[in-house]
Amino acid sequence: MNLVMIGTGYVGLTTGVGFATLGHKVACVDIDASKIARLDLGEVPFYEPGLQEALKQVQSSGNIMFTTDLESVIGQADIIVLAVGTPPKSTGEADLSALFAASQQIGFCLDHEAVIVVKSTVPVGTNRKVLAHIRKTMQEKNREELSGLINIVSVPEFLREGTALQDFLVSDRIVIGADDAIAASTIDRLHEGIKAVRLVTTIESAELIKYAANAFLATKISFINEMANLADRVGADVRDIAQGIGLDHRIGPHFLNAGIGYGGSCFPKDVSALEQLSGHNGYSFKLLSAVIEVNNRQRDSFFKRLVDELGDVKGRRIAVWGLAFKPDTDDVRESAAIEIAQRLCAQGAEIAAYDPKAMENAKRVLSDTVIFAPTAMDAASGADALVVLTQWPEFKEVSFKTLRDQMVEPHIFDGRNYLADLHLEQLGFIYRGVGLGRYDAS
Ligand SMILES: NC(=O)c1ccc[n+]([C@@H]2O[C@H](COP(=O)([O-])OP(=O)(O)OC[C@H]3O[C@@H](n4cnc5c(N)ncnc54)[C@H](O)[C@@H]3O)[C@@H](O)[C@H]2O)c1
Repeated sequence: MNLVMIGTGYVGLTTGVGFATLGHKVACVDIDASKIARLDLGEVPFYEPGLQEALKQVQSSGNIMFTTDLESVIGQADIIVLAVGTPPKSTGEADLSALFAASQQIGFCLDHEAVIVVKSTVPVGTNRKVLAHIRKTMQEKNREELSGLINIVSVPEFLREGTALQDFLVSDRIVIGADDAIAASTIDRLHEGIKAVRLVTTIESAELIKYAANAFLATKISFINEMANLADRVGADVRDIAQGIGLDHRIGPHFLNAGIGYGGSCFPKDVSALEQLSGHNGYSFKLLSAVIEVNNRQRDSFFKRLVDELGDVKGRRIAVWGLAFKPDTDDVRESAAIEIAQRLCAQGAEIAAYDPKAMENAKRVLSDTVIFAPTAMDAASGADALVVLTQWPEFKEVSFKTLRDQMVEPHIFDGRNYLADLHLEQLGFIYRGVGLGRYDAS
């Protein structure tokens, strides 16, 4: 099939490359000309494992092309996919301006029957508004009759940064929300070759499934963080609790790692957007408010513990390991690590940070007083404390014996319990995790 993918971010590019791998002809469109120029040269503008190689392959097979000019490629399209960003507004609601701008652009230049797919995460009712925007613009362009033949299908995206390409090819489910059975079956055929259960629903259900999935996972994280705080007070180890409950198939082992809470471009914004959506529909979703509160408190209490133990951090040198919101990505949007680093800077600490992939993105958001070190060891040399904020595997490969000699004071605050198994106390470190039952919170 011929596909136009609008938006070449983490979702649009990965799924565009994925569909091209399945043999479809994909034209990727973005308003960011520098991104398109890099993609045209075969360069992925962000870090996602395997994507660079996959892009090269589909480029050489001629199945993918990049442009800023929607009009030049839309004429061929059977399907037009919207994968633009829907970031949060200050109120917590989703900002749909990019989506509606792109819808209008489609309406301007679409001159044949096509199925529109919304892949961006959007509040209930948005797909219908997108369709209304497209139809209205087509009508203004004297394409009234044709506008009635345009269909919309909600296909929310569930990929995870870090394993995005794998998630595209083998996924738990593909949700297809549609009014029109023929449009739904076209989208089903588009996904031929992907191993996943198909779930066909109404448009509204599909829109809500995406928010429900992220809100549920965020709830699991906040739940285990609450257990961690209790574990600290009663001398239990939250890792044992996570394992003990995770072995129960009804609960499952995932998203039960206690720490400084969830971050990233999806969970914080989607949980807030769902809470807002509920409020706008006259329903107070109390559980979600608590999930958000617990997540915020988790960062606060980690920071408080650090300051309590170190005393005044002003002028102290603190090493930060990890800036991405999770390993295997360079994405720092809503990263808890960035927030902790910012708070330390605000209190006058001298920060030396290291992240294997996210330094360039972090430089854009962190103060220019932050030192970006070339290695984890360099960041920690001369430090009064080390703060571990992202679970990058290379952090476990460091020689902790050498690290102990390089640091001025031996404090390690591990916001992810990532190094908890290494028995660092035996090497002379003062090691603090989250919920390991070794912290007197009184
Ligand atoms: N990142 C994830 O892990 C993930 C996972 C599932 C769902 N989602 C959802 O997918 C959507 C996209 O997320 P993302 O992380 O890929 O965003 P992103 O910010 O990485 O990419 C969005 C892209 O859209 C482009 N764009 C904006 N307006 C445009 C227009 N009018 N025409 C063409 N391009 C335009 C931007 O330049 C940018 O390159 C969001 O709704 C997000 O919530 C993201």
